[in-house]
Formats: sequence, C-alpha cells, structure tokens
Amino acid sequence: MPVITFANTKGGAGKTTAVLLLATELARLGHRVTVLDADPQYWVSRWYDASQPISRLTVVPYVTQASIDRHLEDLRDKTDYFLIDLPGARSPLLAKAIGLSDHVMIPIQGCAMDAQGGAHVLELLQYLDAKLGLKVPHSVVLTRVNSMVTTRALLAVKGLLAQRNVDVLNTPIIERSAFRDIFDCGGTLYTMSEDRVSNLDRARENARLYAEEILRRVPMTVARPQMAQSAA
Ligand SMILES: Nc1ncnc2c1ncn2[C@@H]1O[C@H](COP(=O)(O)OP(=O)(O)OP(=O)(O)O)[C@@H](O)[C@H]1O
Ligand SMILES: [Mg+2]
Repeated sequence: MPVITFANTKGGAGKTTAVLLLATELARLGHRVTVLDADPQYWVSRWYDASQPISRLTVVPYVTQASIDRHLEDLRDKTDYFLIDLPGARSPLLAKAIGLSDHVMIPIQGCAMDAQGGAHVLELLQYLDAKLGLKVPHSVVLTRVNSMVTTRALLAVKGLLAQRNVDVLNTPIIERSAFRDIFDCGGTLYTMSEDRVSNLDRARENARLYAEEILRRVPMTVARPQMAQSAA
C-alpha cells in the first residue's frame, strides 16, 4: 500500500485541500484510503467527524513523529493508499514522513512564498538522496489556480520548476468555492448539492483528473520494498 505525503513548509499552500480531494476520489474509485492527519489544526479530522461515514475512507487524528510508524503498521492490511497531511512548517516529522513515503506531493500556489516552501521540501529530498541514497519520487501540484487567467507569478513558478526538471502534474487544482465549502459542509463533492455550490460539475471533473494523474504516477503496486520488509 503506497504512502503519499503532502508537504510544503509554507502554511496555506493547499496541502489539506489536496489531501482531501485525493482521499475522497480514491475512495470513490474503490480504493481503501487512510489519511494520517499530522496537521496540528486537524482540518481533515474535523471534516471527517462532521461528515456522514464515507465508504472505504478512514482518518486517523493526532498523528505524531512517535506514532506514525505504528499507524502505518496497524492499518497496512486495511489500506490501499495512505495519505499523510503534514503541518505547514518545518518539522522533524517532514523528514520522517518522506522516509516512509513512496511518493511526495508538493502543493504550490502560483506565488513566490509558496514556491519557497516547496523548494525547502525539494532541497530536503535532494539531501536525503545525496547523503543516504534515498530516492523518493515526487511531483508538484499547482493549487488555487485561477480558471480564467494565468498570472505572471504562476508562469514564473512554472518556469522555475521546469528549470529544475521537477515533475509537475498537468492538472492544477483550480480555485473553486466547492473546494472551500467541502470543509464547512462535510461529505464529498458528490454529496454536495448542485443548486447550492457553483460549478460543482467542474470541481468534480478537476478532482477526478487530478486523482487519475496521481494514480498513474503511484499505482498500487509501487510500495517501496523497505515498507514491506519493516512490516514483515
Ligand atoms: N483550490 C482551492 N479552491 C478554493 N479554496 C482553496 C483551494 N485550496 C485551498 N483553499 C483554501 O485556502 C486555505 C488554505 O488551504 P489548505 O488548508 O488546504 O492549505 P494547507 O497547506 O493545508 O494549510 P496549512 O499549512 O495551514 O495546513 C483554506 O481556507 C482552503 O479552504
Ligand atoms: Mg493543512
């Protein structure tokens, strides 16, 4: 069961939103998903508590550096995909979670400060590779992208990522009220009412394409051998 960590040391980059959209999409597609909530604001856990039960989706709150291995171990037989939501700051949990991951997703809004937080994660990934030979595949997902205009800041961020040969998902997460409202309403994009949320069909399409791209990068068979060994 692959482990996907969402990381950006800048707060508010859209990590938790990206985790929630992927988790609900994967569960809808029939995968058993466990979200390990290590964000001290516990947005995913609060959303989960406010929601009707969602088939195949489990959220574990209060995940810490000390408890994360145990959660992975305890739930590995019941899980197809683990998603880890990290705090928006540098923390010892970041390196630990990366070390346990099959793929790291770096959500970045098209702005310089966010790109800096993403760069910290990319530097840590490079460091772990250079010092320990630990190569963890990773991708950037652009978040809160305006559906109508491409800003200069977004172009600058894209240029910088291309220069560094960083893999960027073709599907950005668009700025949509549905992606904000879901935290207030609970449930998923498919339990929200089309009359009350604007462009819900586009939001669903966006989430579907985003999840499909991640599934292509992280098929269920890619779990790193050391996970299997450590659990054996
Ligand atoms: N695609 C989007 N469309 C609309 N609103 C969004 C989108 N992505 C994020 N937001 C909003 O932006 C704010 C920050 O997003 P989110 O909580 O996902 O970021 P985060 O990186 O997890 O933050 P933190 O570092 O504090 O954990 C939230 O209010 C969220 O509802
Ligand atoms: Mg968060």
